[in-house]
Amino acid sequence: MEPVVLFLLFVVVSGLNNLVIGGRPAVVNIGAVLTYDSFIGGVAKAAIEAAVADVNSNKSVLGGTRLNLVMENSNCSVFFGSLGAFSVLEKQAIALIGPQSSAVAHMISSISNGLQIPLISFAATDPTLSSLEFPFFLRMTHSDSYQMAAMADVIDYYGWRQVIAIFVDDDYGRNGMYYLDDELAKKMSKIYKIALPVKATRDKILDVLQKSRMIGPRVYVVHVTPDSGLEIFSAAQDLQMLTEEYVWLATDWLSTTLDTSESIGRNPLGYLQGVVGFRQYVRQSNEKDAFASRWNVLHKGGLVFNLNTYGFYAYDTVWAVALAINDFLNESGNITFSSNSKLPTSKGKMQLGKLKIFDGGSLLHKKLLSLKFTGLSGPVQFDSDNNLINSIYEIINVNGSMVHTVGYWSNYSGLSISIHESSYGNGQRNLSFNQVLGRVAWPGGKTEKPRGWVVANNEKPLRIGVPYRASYLEFVTVTNKSNMVNVSGYCIDVFKAIINIIPYDVSYQYVLFGNGRSNPNYDELVNMVAEDVIDAAIGDIAIVTNRTKVVDFTQPYISTGLVILAPIKSIKSNAWVFLRPFTVGMWCMTGAFFFLIGVVIWLLEHRLSSPIKGIDSLIASNEPIGYQVGSFAQSYLIYGLNVHQSRLVSLGSPEAYEEALRRGPQNGGVAAIVDELPYVEMFLSKRSGFGIVGQPFTRSGWGFLLHTRYKAVYF
Ligand SMILES: *[C@@H]1O[C@H](CO)[C@@H](O)[C@H](O)[C@H]1NC(C)=O
Ligand SMILES: *[C@@H]1O[C@H](CO)[C@@H](O)[C@H](O)[C@H]1NC(C)=O
Ligand SMILES: *[C@@H]1O[C@H](CO)[C@@H](O)[C@H](O)[C@H]1NC(C)=O
Ligand SMILES: *[C@@H]1O[C@H](CO)[C@@H](O)[C@H](O)[C@H]1NC(C)=O
Ligand SMILES: *[C@@H]1O[C@H](CO)[C@@H](O)[C@H](O)[C@H]1NC(C)=O
Ligand SMILES: *[C@@H]1O[C@H](CO)[C@@H](O)[C@H](O)[C@H]1NC(C)=O
Ligand SMILES: *[C@@H]1O[C@H](CO)[C@@H](O)[C@H](O)[C@H]1NC(C)=O
Ligand SMILES: *[C@@H]1O[C@H](CO)[C@@H](O)[C@H](O)[C@H]1NC(C)=O
Ligand SMILES: *[C@@H]1O[C@H](CO)[C@@H](O)[C@H](O)[C@H]1NC(C)=O
Ligand SMILES: *[C@@H]1O[C@H](CO)[C@@H](O)[C@H](O)[C@H]1NC(C)=O
Repeated sequence: MEPVVLFLLFVVVSGLNNLVIGGRPAVVNIGAVLTYDSFIGGVAKAAIEAAVADVNSNKSVLGGTRLNLVMENSNCSVFFGSLGAFSVLEKQAIALIGPQSSAVAHMISSISNGLQIPLISFAATDPTLSSLEFPFFLRMTHSDSYQMAAMADVIDYYGWRQVIAIFVDDDYGRNGMYYLDDELAKKMSKIYKIALPVKATRDKILDVLQKSRMIGPRVYVVHVTPDSGLEIFSAAQDLQMLTEEYVWLATDWLSTTLDTSESIGRNPLGYLQGVVGFRQYVRQSNEKDAFASRWNVLHKGGLVFNLNTYGFYAYDTVWAVALAINDFLNESGNITFSSNSKLPTSKGKMQLGKLKIFDGGSLLHKKLLSLKFTGLSGPVQFDSDNNLINSIYEIINVNGSMVHTVGYWSNYSGLSISIHESSYGNGQRNLSFNQVLGRVAWPGGKTEKPRGWVVANNEKPLRIGVPYRASYLEFVTVTNKSNMVNVSGYCIDVFKAIINIIPYDVSYQYVLFGNGRSNPNYDELVNMVAEDVIDAAIGDIAIVTNRTKVVDFTQPYISTGLVILAPIKSIKSNAWVFLRPFTVGMWCMTGAFFFLIGVVIWLLEHRLSSPIKGIDSLIASNEPIGYQVGSFAQSYLIYGLNVHQSRLVSLGSPEAYEEALRRGPQNGGVAAIVDELPYVEMFLSKRSGFGIVGQPFTRSGWGFLLHTRYKAVYF
């Protein structure tokens, strides 16, 4: 979360005339520079005041030392904020809280490093504020690097592969995008980034949204500031971009806005319908509830803002500083400063000479880092990168006048419907947790996941070749009733399942191949793809060597066991599909492929009399061999196994198989038939008295084939 304003909170020891009680200073000043009327600053101000009052009301917290709060209004200005910061620094701060804006953060962090003053932020989520560059920086909230990982997980969970991100063009926005881009790249997803100037006008917003519609994706990620972000949604509504076609995701600025703003509470959340957002998760506790009740009293007494998550972090920050000061005073007892001879003295308005180095800075920083207590926001503890531990986000969805929680994200266990112990785990992601979210009401009110993609109007549909078969219609059937052509069958189901898995629209039309009276020649179909007459072919097309020389097949994936996973070959998608058994002994897919084994079938009555025991003895026998019209078996027998063409008998249907086998070679029939396993399984499943002889003799698969031009584009 990053308002453009500057937040600074300083802990200052009042001047040299400080009273000392029992070895401890009587008063320690705490300074804060906030933008009082911003959503985060306004809430933080009241929370900080409450925390200081709580610390002071209990003498045992600081052993009699009192905190004195000095605050300045930066009024949304980096300039005033910086002046305020310097003015407090001159009063010998021993710790600073803030700032927000990265430009100022970098400046103040350098100064805090130079003066050895710990800098603690309860709201700076910019991931680039790292402990490596700024060793005195501590983050009392969660880095956007986690939020962006969470965002990428959500996008991946729904299978969207391209998103448009709208972000505020400052360090907070840009650095957040940098991390989102990185996280999406790990998931092979693409991001289009659109920057909005800080304080963009409505015209500018409308312009940016309008242009974004030219790009295909319909999934938007909005990463802006709480004080101005809603304008984007109201503009999107004017442009009718909050309809079923769209997906809107927002970083945690949205929940801050919703939590804080009274006027939104009264609005029925009109233009936020279906939006999915994040909120830093603050777990339930009695202390948290008690603080929320206290807040309501303040609210009734005139406080403008409702409580938001950052209020808890601001409150805990004061406590962290107080507890660390206590530990510090207990160990050292002394707060002393040294002059910095390198700083220029009293030239101009800035009295830089008054800035002094805090001798105990490293010790106080160490005390902060080793804190371990439970605050309103949960366990307060810092990791080795000086960040607060346990980054957990709540995922929210706006539906009607309600904001529902649809799940949670934690670095360790990923997405889940509820918070459990493992959400608090640390270290490498444990993949054994099921990734699952609750039902979301999307824009337009539907609960089915939007596709998140539209085809540009000028895109030509893919021409998909389909064999117009005459037999084994289970695989592909074309019906033509009163000129209504309908393509169906197992291979078509497979194709449709894949089309549904592909995370963007593929428009296509079927091109029938064959006359429907006899099975078409599949070599010719393959050549049509090779010659670019059609873009792809689907159906029971065997993958054989010389076909793979002219076209690309989707790759068959071979495995054993009850479930087979088939990778869909794609540069865009890692989709995995479950294969399910089709008929006995044959594995098929809802994704892609058959695994075929060529076999010889024969009439069981021949078992004793026939010399044929498999493919080798069949070839040696000189008897007639049946094959399926159009099948690769014909050329395989001729060219692969050197069987003379005169021995081959083409058969058009299962009925023809049966008849030829029953007649036998003596009566114009065949001794055996060589065919692919799926047809054989189909044949045997409906008839008795026939069987397979010998071992399967070749291996190949069925796949979809495409012109190489499309391989990179679609599958
Ligand atoms: C005061 O603080 C001490 C330690 O920090 C705690 O044990 C005690 O309960 C507190 N007293 C009150 C009245 O809150
Ligand atoms: C804060 O800024 C607003 C406009 O930016 C200005 O009108 C107002 O006077 C400023 N307040 C202070 C205290 O500087
Ligand atoms: C000061 O430190 C000592 C030793 O670490 C500890 O026993 C004592 O409780 C601490 N006192 C306070 C007021 O924290
Ligand atoms: C604190 O200051 C006193 C008096 O100057 C000195 O005796 C003592 O050693 C100092 N303590 C530490 C830990 O530096
Ligand atoms: C977050 O997850 C990443 C990747 O699994 C891991 O490398 C990192 O250590 C985790 N961070 C924390 C604080 O657990
Ligand atoms: C992952 O979580 C499961 C279930 O909680 C647990 O059994 C397993 O040990 C964890 N694996 C690792 C590497 O932590
Ligand atoms: C959204 O709200 C409507 C009306 O209150 C309700 O019927 C529907 O079930 C809600 N949808 C979801 C996904 O919660
Ligand atoms: C469908 O049938 C009609 C006549 O009934 C015929 O004119 C048309 O060519 C057929 N379509 C296909 C694709 O075979
Ligand atoms: C096409 O055929 C399939 C299978 O016979 C059937 O389920 C489907 O309803 C048909 N579709 C049309 C548009 O006729
Ligand atoms: C495969 O080889 C056979 C024999 O050479 C040929 O008839 C057939 O057309 C070839 N198939 C392709 C796709 O080139």
